[in-house]
Amino acid sequence: MNLLLIGAQGSGKGTQASVLVKRLGIQHLSSGDLFRSAIDQGTPTGLAVKDFIDRGELVPDALTIQLVVDQLKLPEFQPGVILDGFPRTRDQARALDKALAELGRGIDRAIYLHVPREQLMDRLMGRYVCVAHQHVYNLKSNPPQVAGVCDLDGSELVQRSDDKPEKIERRLQIFFEQTIQVVHYYRAQHKVIEIDGNQPIASVSTELLRGLGVAAEGAA
Ligand code: AP5
Ligand code: MG
Repeated sequence: MNLLLIGAQGSGKGTQASVLVKRLGIQHLSSGDLFRSAIDQGTPTGLAVKDFIDRGELVPDALTIQLVVDQLKLPEFQPGVILDGFPRTRDQARALDKALAELGRGIDRAIYLHVPREQLMDRLMGRYVCVAHQHVYNLKSNPPQVAGVCDLDGSELVQRSDDKPEKIERRLQIFFEQTIQVVHYYRAQHKVIEIDGNQPIASVSTELLRGLGVAAEGAA
């Protein structure tokens, strides 16, 4: 199964991707995580994208498409993939459809996590991610068992450099002006499942799995 998770910044794409990985047994591929790892490792890609990410702007399509399409060819993504944060423009969506078609695959469902804009700032201001694997926490809705430490790998929890109010505003503006076009693109292909992301994390997971026709047991 090849799935897309589409949603505004803070809608819960990364959070729900972890649930889907466990439940469906396919791998998660987040363009944002790829970029942040490249920056941390100081690779040429990391150097090229750092300024865009720090400013909350989209990385240019050519660079983003190349990076994600190369990943899709890796063996771990052959059984299926949960794409998170890609595509974000119509050109990225067209490039993805073409690349998957060349691999004899296609998108099965595009999941749109819908959350009212006014909720998103609050969620992102309380978000912490672990330095080892970018596991996601929230001081209010999803705190770690030990403050400042990842439950899953014991690494330190930090705030993302783009989780600052003015950068969050810019990222949200880009979502509601541009990335929403990707929802329309896949709606025209009758592939969109719209999920109410403005409910507790476990309830979102249950609705999501039901929308995919997968039993909710084991979702947590
Ligand atoms: P990316 O890393 O994709 O960030 P984003 O789009 O800004 O999305 P987020 O990761 O902020 O939100 P999320 O939906 O994953 O929410 P989460 O689950 O963490 O991209 C970063 C940057 O990379 C971009 O700005 C751009 O520069 C570049 N980039 C990436 N992809 C690109 C592309 N395709 N093209 C061009 N540039 C690209 O949850 C958020 C918080 O809320 C957490 O604290 C969580 O615990 C909490 N939470 C989650 N669900 C709930 C719930 N139901 N109730 C209460 N709290 C909840
Ligand atoms: Mg994310």
